[in-house]
Amino acid sequence: MAERVRPLVITIDGPAASGKGTLARRLAWHLGLRHLDSGLLYRATALRLRCAGEGATNVTAAVAAAAAVTEADLTDAALRQPAISGLASEVAAIPAVRTAVLALQRAVASTPPGAVIDGRDIGTVVCPDATVKLFLDARPDVRAARRAADHPDSDPATVAAELAERDRRDTVRAVAPLAVAPDATVIDTSALDAEAVFAVALAVVRRKAGLEP
Ligand code: CDP
Repeated sequence: MAERVRPLVITIDGPAASGKGTLARRLAWHLGLRHLDSGLLYRATALRLRCAGEGATNVTAAVAAAAAVTEADLTDAALRQPAISGLASEVAAIPAVRTAVLALQRAVASTPPGAVIDGRDIGTVVCPDATVKLFLDARPDVRAARRAADHPDSDPATVAAELAERDRRDTVRAVAPLAVAPDATVIDTSALDAEAVFAVALAVVRRKAGLEP
């Protein structure tokens, strides 16, 4: 009988603009795993909701939007708009929205050879049995500067305020708040460039997953 190999699942949680996406893409490519940016599921929910002319106060519409999200939605460039970031964190606080997008995330995690999934609650709620859990953080001013650089036409002070408000909402919400899993390795990326973060993270992954260097 063929040996059953457990998928290699690497979770990367952390606040906005902490470097999760860049690291997740690089690790996935390097290790031959799939990458899922779970934030896109909430962004796609927000975009569908806005296209339906509704807001996050309409919980029924928000849950219907979340249930309709498919992987094909996740490539839409409009998902990165700042207005969608805010609405995404509003819909993400609705418990039934989170339930609606859980199956897709777990399906990705359970498909061999495995995946790198980044978000806020991946190591704590979505994949509590992940092989390796990372938590990326950085000083708020560093994260605000990074996000402002992504949106050169935006006012940096507005970008910083929106980021702070989103962090607050993501941290205080009752269900699946942004939190460090007890068994996660925390990496502070404030003074590290993408290359250095990748090197630190890869060393942690190799050690924890028992991979050859
Ligand atoms: O890219 P950035 O870090 O700015 O945000 P994102 O990862 O695309 O997530 C957008 C929003 O989705 C966050 O502010 C959270 O409210 C929500 N989110 C979540 O609640 N849980 C996740 N696993 C991922 C994102």
